[in-house]
Amino acid sequence: MEAEFKRIARMLAEQDYVADESIVTALFLATTLNRPLLIEGPAGVGKTEIAKAMARALETDLIRLQCYEGLDSTTALYEWNYQHQLLHIKLEEHSTKSIEEKEAEIFSERFLLKRPLLQAITHHKPPVLLIDELDRADEEFESFLLEVLSDWQITIPEIGTIRASHIPYVVLTSNRTRELSDAVRRRCLYLWIDYPDFEKEVAIVKQKVPGVNDRLAEQITRFMEAVREMHLAKVPGVAETLDWARALVALHRDVLDQTVVEQTLGVIFKDRQDIEQVRMNLEELLQKVGVSSRLTPTAFSEDTIRKTTED
Ligand SMILES: Nc1ncnc2c1ncn2[C@@H]1O[C@H](COP(=O)(O)OP(=O)(O)OP(=O)(O)O)[C@@H](O)[C@H]1O
Ligand SMILES: [Mg+2]
Repeated sequence: MEAEFKRIARMLAEQDYVADESIVTALFLATTLNRPLLIEGPAGVGKTEIAKAMARALETDLIRLQCYEGLDSTTALYEWNYQHQLLHIKLEEHSTKSIEEKEAEIFSERFLLKRPLLQAITHHKPPVLLIDELDRADEEFESFLLEVLSDWQITIPEIGTIRASHIPYVVLTSNRTRELSDAVRRRCLYLWIDYPDFEKEVAIVKQKVPGVNDRLAEQITRFMEAVREMHLAKVPGVAETLDWARALVALHRDVLDQTVVEQTLGVIFKDRQDIEQVRMNLEELLQKVGVSSRLTPTAFSEDTIRKTTED
């Protein structure tokens, strides 16, 4: 088992996914017991990315069903290709086939548009099926999904019942804009991903942003940690940390200073009031990070411009 754990951790690392023990355990159990994995957590902490990394690691396809309000079973399962059917009817207008034969033809697999759930069930090898942001779909859709996840078969009235040739690896994610039903929770294994701790976030930054030095990676992470303690409308996740790190590298910055932080606040915060609040508390935040708040040359000082043009 120890070896299997290490194998999963290594596989994720190879896909640039930094996983802690709880994530590795959850993936180990979900793949071994063949149970869907429900992942919840705040925005931008790497929920969706797990499914992507898993598919790459297992060398299989990722089939994604993005949920939204009003998503119905048809859109998730299959639709008939009406235009193609109509064209076929037109072309066959003078054929001598019986009505039954013609009907059977236009309601055959040829004219079926497979949507993510049907694609996952009929895939030639077990894919990773990502049902992303399930909390955005309606409860009705959730009940329908439960049926699919338990039976792994889909009945199309005109064709018959299609059974899964392989059970997909299923990852469901939710940002908790509403509570998912107990029935869904019961069927799944559960993983909560929180904002990463310091070591994990530094590791993610170093892994994902080439060219970032250790000191800058640590300063960025400390700053993000401090910011997450404030009461903001939109708390920045790892996605924003990475965007910021990339922006600072693009500006040829090795360390943080007050000016560059001020100039790049729009990379991290996407809400006007949040930016105001951070700006007002900037000195204190920078002190927590260990950056002196005295003014230093701007990102566009002659020094930087010279450095940029020399590169
Ligand atoms: N542990 C991690 N290792 C590597 N990259 C990570 C990790 N966590 C997050 N990231 C990166 O952070 C970004 C956001 O991740 P992702 O889109 O998976 O977040 P999410 O939790 O699905 O967010 P949302 O709730 O907004 O959909 C991605 O670029 C992803 O690569
Ligand atoms: Mg996501």
